[in-house]
Amino acid sequence: MAQIAQIKKIQKLLSRWYARHKRALPWRKTRDPYAVWISEIMLQQTRVDTVIPYFKRWMKRFPTMQSLAKAGEEEVLKHWEGLGYYSRARNLHRAAKQIASSGTKFPDSKEALLALPGIGKYTAGAILSIAFDQREPLVDGNVFRVFARLFNIHSDIEALSTRKKIWGLASAFVPEKNPGDFNQALMELGAAICVPGAPRCLLCPVRSLCEGFQQSDPSRLPVFKVKKKIEPFSGWMFLAEHNGRYLIQKRPEGQVMGGLWEFPSKMEGALETPEKLVWRHLKLRGDAQELPGKIKAAFTKFRGDYRIAHIRLKNLGMRKTQVHEQWILPQEAGKYTFSAPSRKLLRLLKGPTFFPPKAEAPLAQAGTLFFK
Ligand code: ADE
Repeated sequence: MAQIAQIKKIQKLLSRWYARHKRALPWRKTRDPYAVWISEIMLQQTRVDTVIPYFKRWMKRFPTMQSLAKAGEEEVLKHWEGLGYYSRARNLHRAAKQIASSGTKFPDSKEALLALPGIGKYTAGAILSIAFDQREPLVDGNVFRVFARLFNIHSDIEALSTRKKIWGLASAFVPEKNPGDFNQALMELGAAICVPGAPRCLLCPVRSLCEGFQQSDPSRLPVFKVKKKIEPFSGWMFLAEHNGRYLIQKRPEGQVMGGLWEFPSKMEGALETPEKLVWRHLKLRGDAQELPGKIKAAFTKFRGDYRIAHIRLKNLGMRKTQVHEQWILPQEAGKYTFSAPSRKLLRLLKGPTFFPPKAEAPLAQAGTLFFK
């Protein structure tokens, strides 16, 4: 365990560095616990640069917990579209309703925060330290890495015992005065200096106290013992068209990307004909034309791509549209919240997504096809 003198020195060096180098981020202009909460949930698994425009738009539309509590789920999801891990948005919404209906102020105790959906140890620590100035630690991926290097920890970073040890260190280090700033300084150091792969040790304010730097090779820390098994896939995504309308389906709740809309797709059969697949899986018959380009996708352990088939349907035969399906006009796409692979397809087709389409996309042929 760290010595008191060492703790004090690291606190001082890090706080000084943070005061000088911290980024001017929109959520750092306030101590409103609601804003801190939104920013911290958005920042889980998502980079700061990506979060900034989402945070600003969210706070404009839902400036208070009451406004979020009153909003409809579709609109909440729409403001999250593209951030991924949509259960985060659903939990924010549920928690806001719970807090608003209890009629109390924003909870300021660990127990009350942990009782809310989507708030775990990390988020509770962030809200309590940043918004309420309470001496509570926080550990996220950046902080795990910083401590693994500072204390030259070579045990599996995902093992419970290592996690406990680092939470213990974070708890010993968080100061009485400005705990929120100190916690953010640790995360900032992890994001800017103590980065994965090749840390910028020569710019590090605590290099002289870093056991990883002094005694081993910090670029090899932290250690991940269990490698995640990746499953490759190769499939099709279908633009099934009938009378100028396109079939979209809503994913079942409780599944990955649950509740989001998407174009029908299959994560297999890349070597089969799309006509056959569409008949087998959708009971639709039509002529298929492959469109240029592929949609790359990654979710859970799967990594792969979809070929894109435009299927022109002459009629729908006996097929009934299911409750989770819609036939939409291209200009209606903006009303739905789509899963990431389908958003990529829309972008490829110059679709009206939530953001203006990026320059990377235009595929003239497909674009004119979908957005005449
Ligand atoms: N990552 C998550 N929360 C953060 C914060 N408040 N400052 C910097 N990086 C973060």
